[in-house]
Amino acid sequence: MTPAPAALRQADPSARFAHPDVRIAAPAAALAWLRALPDGAVDHVICDPPYVDDVHNHASSVWFPKGKAPRRMHRDIRFAGLRADDYAIVPELLRVARRWVLAFCALEQFGDYKRAARAVHPSCYVRSMVVRRTQSPPQITGDRPRQAAEGIAVMHRPGRKRWNGGGGGGWYETPRAHAHKADAWHPTEKHVNLMRALVLDFTEPRDLVLDPYAGSGTTALACLIENRRAIVGDLDPAWGPVMHTRLCEEWDRDWAKRVRSPEGAAP
Ligand SMILES: C[S@@+](CC[C@H](N)C(=O)[O-])C[C@H]1O[C@@H](n2cnc3c(N)ncnc32)[C@H](O)[C@@H]1O
Repeated sequence: MTPAPAALRQADPSARFAHPDVRIAAPAAALAWLRALPDGAVDHVICDPPYVDDVHNHASSVWFPKGKAPRRMHRDIRFAGLRADDYAIVPELLRVARRWVLAFCALEQFGDYKRAARAVHPSCYVRSMVVRRTQSPPQITGDRPRQAAEGIAVMHRPGRKRWNGGGGGGWYETPRAHAHKADAWHPTEKHVNLMRALVLDFTEPRDLVLDPYAGSGTTALACLIENRRAIVGDLDPAWGPVMHTRLCEEWDRDWAKRVRSPEGAAP
């Protein structure tokens, strides 16, 4: 098993998360996994695939350890960015989802997602949404603006669309997933409240959501909190034990007690 970067929380290899609403799949490449699924196997895909290498390579940040001088930290990203042929995933995502396909991306990738989705059908690319990072680190080189936002490519198979955001929406704000790096499960972890907001805006209670690039399982945690079902998996076998450990800790020990009722959202 590839160890998690030292600054991150470590998995307990013996942890086993068991809940009827979440399946943590065996490690698999997303494309191969999707190709094995039937049409319309899930209600939605909400996923966070790798961005482009260009973004990953500059993903270092200034870190402010308590009481010490600021330090430059690499985020230990251990996966390759999306290449041109990786957008072959898009037709598969649209095929397996009965409704929405949301894919996080760098703003530079909107055009690639759009081309890939429109090759399936012109209506399949629906919207480019923006997520503003409220705590993005300063640009340490000082020679260009910092990376203050990322995107979400919103796609849908041809047909009627509905979402829960009425006439508004289209952008989100998010702080870092954790105030302190030592509390993070994954180097590119999303904040669970951002994932909850997407789940609430695009899905219905009890819907089934797939995330084939699940990392530490934030999508699954958000689905549990909002009474949706999830299937999650990742190519890197290191993240399965992390997902089990995290969901045992954060769902079983923490969130499960705070969610009001089987039909209701969390406080
Ligand atoms: C941006 S991270 C997801 C982080 C996740 N949203 C979280 O909150 O923890 C992308 C993940 O995709 C995985 N990955 C990279 N290439 C993949 C592939 N071809 N198939 C499936 N997973 C892949 C990486 O191992 C990584 O954990």
